[in-house]
Amino acid sequence: MALQSAVLERPRPPVFRPLTAAERFGVLPMPDLDFTPDIARETAHLYERVKHVIPAVEWPVHAPYVKAINDLKKVRNAVILAHNYQTPEIYNCVADVVGDSFALAREATKTHAEIIVQGGVHFMAETSKLLNPDKTVLIPDMKAGCSLAESITAADVRALRQKHPGVPVAVYVNTSAEVKAEADICLTSGNAVEVVESLGVPEVLVLPDQYLAAWIATQTKVKIITWNGACEVHERFTGEEIRRLREDDPDVTVIAHPECPPDVIREADFAGSTAKMAEYVKTHKPKRVVMITECSMADNIAALSPETEFMRPCNLCPHMKRITLPKILDSLLTMREEIIIDPVVAARARISVERMVNLKI
Ligand code: 13P
Ligand code: SF4
Repeated sequence: MALQSAVLERPRPPVFRPLTAAERFGVLPMPDLDFTPDIARETAHLYERVKHVIPAVEWPVHAPYVKAINDLKKVRNAVILAHNYQTPEIYNCVADVVGDSFALAREATKTHAEIIVQGGVHFMAETSKLLNPDKTVLIPDMKAGCSLAESITAADVRALRQKHPGVPVAVYVNTSAEVKAEADICLTSGNAVEVVESLGVPEVLVLPDQYLAAWIATQTKVKIITWNGACEVHERFTGEEIRRLREDDPDVTVIAHPECPPDVIREADFAGSTAKMAEYVKTHKPKRVVMITECSMADNIAALSPETEFMRPCNLCPHMKRITLPKILDSLLTMREEIIIDPVVAARARISVERMVNLKI
């Protein structure tokens, strides 16, 4: 009894709390955000890149943020990784690396900067952190989520493994670190078929996007078992919408993201990741194209394909649109919000992401 109370009374060691990025790097004062003649001159070459989508009257609102962010990136030794769905002023004027989810993950392994600011949603920032555990990864809005990432939990993956013993689990990169930690490998829409076939087995669990999984199943002999997740942006498109489009304009080229439902993909001339969609337009140079995906995609690549007319429809991703120039500036000034992943989860999740990034495909 005496021994037990001695053990209980022993002083506890202080809980180790790593310093936050704000404590390590300090908080900087807000710069002047007036649209001065100097700022107009210094940002004129950047406006050239976006003048087809941003009216001249709006540029004075963006330009001071663009200048301040580009200056601060140097002060902070930071890079901005921006997904193809980011708004044109982010994508064209402050991003250092742009691309689809796969390109961003791959490029995240190559950066020498100390700080990564993710122009994209939370799972993308987590992926950058998994690949760069010693760097500071910031997301300008912690609420930038994803309906696919929210559709499945680590417990769901464990239950699926029990139901399908021995079947490898490939999870879309659009998942939380906890879900990636339960997987064997990650995939993106840019490499999905190659990842599935690299496993060399007759059946693979592809989680959580039912539509991406259905598209993969049309491209391979491997049997695909899936989940009921969907992207809230792409699941809203319908085959009927595409058929009506073609009736109105029989020469239009339709390219769709594989997160769209199967009847949309069947109606499309091509399906591929956002990078593959951009590549398709660049190489095929269609006269008129509809990109069945998020709205910023067409805005961002239109300048590179001046011979193509980009038509609607498109849908906005409310999560991607949470990232704005003012929030990116705030992130660089305050060093928030910082991505922190439980080290045990991170160690397991990193294996799944690295297996994908290291595949020779
Ligand atoms: P990709 O850029 O990999 O095609 O992904 C699309 C998407 O929905 C990302 O959130
Ligand atoms: Fe998620 Fe869809 Fe938005 Fe991409 S577009 S972040 S998959 S909700």
